[in-house]
Amino acid sequence: MASFIVEGNNLLRGTIEVSGSKNAALSALAAGILFKTFPEYFRVPDIEDIRRMRELIDVFLEHKTINTEIAKRFRASILLAGPILARLGAVSFPHPGGCLIGARPIDVFLEGWRMMGAYISEDKDGYHLEISKQTSLRGIDYTFRVKSVTGTESLMMTAVLAHGITTLHNSACEPEIKSLADFLNANGAVVCGAGTPDIVVKGNGGALLDFHKPFVSPPDRIETGSLAILGSLAADELRITQCNPAELEAPLQALNNAGASIEVGDNWIIVKKSDCFFPVDIETREYPGFPTDLQAPFMVFLTQAGGTSIVRENIFEGRMTHVPSLNAMGARISLKGNHRAVIEGKTPLVGCAMESPDIRAGLAFIIAASIANGTSRIGNAYQIDRGYVALDKRLSEIGMHIFRAD
Ligand code: EPU
Repeated sequence: MASFIVEGNNLLRGTIEVSGSKNAALSALAAGILFKTFPEYFRVPDIEDIRRMRELIDVFLEHKTINTEIAKRFRASILLAGPILARLGAVSFPHPGGCLIGARPIDVFLEGWRMMGAYISEDKDGYHLEISKQTSLRGIDYTFRVKSVTGTESLMMTAVLAHGITTLHNSACEPEIKSLADFLNANGAVVCGAGTPDIVVKGNGGALLDFHKPFVSPPDRIETGSLAILGSLAADELRITQCNPAELEAPLQALNNAGASIEVGDNWIIVKKSDCFFPVDIETREYPGFPTDLQAPFMVFLTQAGGTSIVRENIFEGRMTHVPSLNAMGARISLKGNHRAVIEGKTPLVGCAMESPDIRAGLAFIIAASIANGTSRIGNAYQIDRGYVALDKRLSEIGMHIFRAD
């Protein structure tokens, strides 16, 4: 399996352009199922997760089914279920399952679809949903038990083709939801309030959408934040362009509180390394709170702050898997249960061999390896390729000594 090799002690410099958002593109691609003819997409990142989603959509457009083998390896495949249910009145899909970062149940999706009129059965192959001819798909007034990003996107997409009004309370407010709603609205749907906890969708009674305006993926906010962390640790000067800093208020504030040197413009960020950082405590929250997807990279940053910092992970129960490898590199991080880590800094890091457990922890390891003494091998590069475009090439261009090895 491919690995990334990083020779440490890098001094980075230059300009790096942020790619289009993975998670915004994933839901917008799934929304393509709601259209008469499949829409056009721009700035969609060329990465593994997007290729899997496109494969699933191609299979669906030809065979009208979700390919189980691809879908069960890939959590975001759940995003196709709502649009297919709305389009065909029936859908079957495998349980997307848990993964390393947590159990990741789908109870809120199922509850919403049931209320919309779906009869749901479950067997060893997964879930089977069907709307009876008599009832048809209907709008609902629904309050999410937990704020769920893909849950909100799924019910919002399903509601577009339903009969009547759907009101979703306690919806997730992540920018990807607003971007999905903007795309749907630009093509004839009526979705109000996306980006706030209360979303209202005026269902059109089942008419597939006419394609008018392509989807343009907004900048990936998680990649942007990760690059800001990397630059704060390792760059003489790093200019991050084609980004939207307004979506990163909490993480940029945390970097500022730690004493990082950051200059922010409308669509760019300039970061410079400092040798002295203060410890800060963070806890992950739904947007606009500190994103769980930046927790691992930020923990790497905190290993370089002088003093004790605390990180609390509130979204997922399995998102501390990076800690043992960071400790093997010389960090002093103690885990207090599944949700809390105490970081004692500042500790020099040394190169190590490690395996990337998930997309975001993988990039955190690359950041750690870049400031470490010696060489690191980060295995399971597939996990990193799932989320970032040509990372080795782009990071090499700003001075990182990073190579891909088979
Ligand atoms: N939850 C439930 N029941 C549900 C749905 C969610 O209990 O039916 C819980 C989850 O277990 C979790 C919390 O609600 O504790 C929030 O999970 P959410 O549903 O919001 O996560 P998601 O929609 O599956 C998306 C992103 C993740 C990101 C999270 C949180 C996509 C494709 N994925 O996941 O991104 O971490 O929101 O912001 O948009 C990544 O890109 O690496 C990634 C994991």
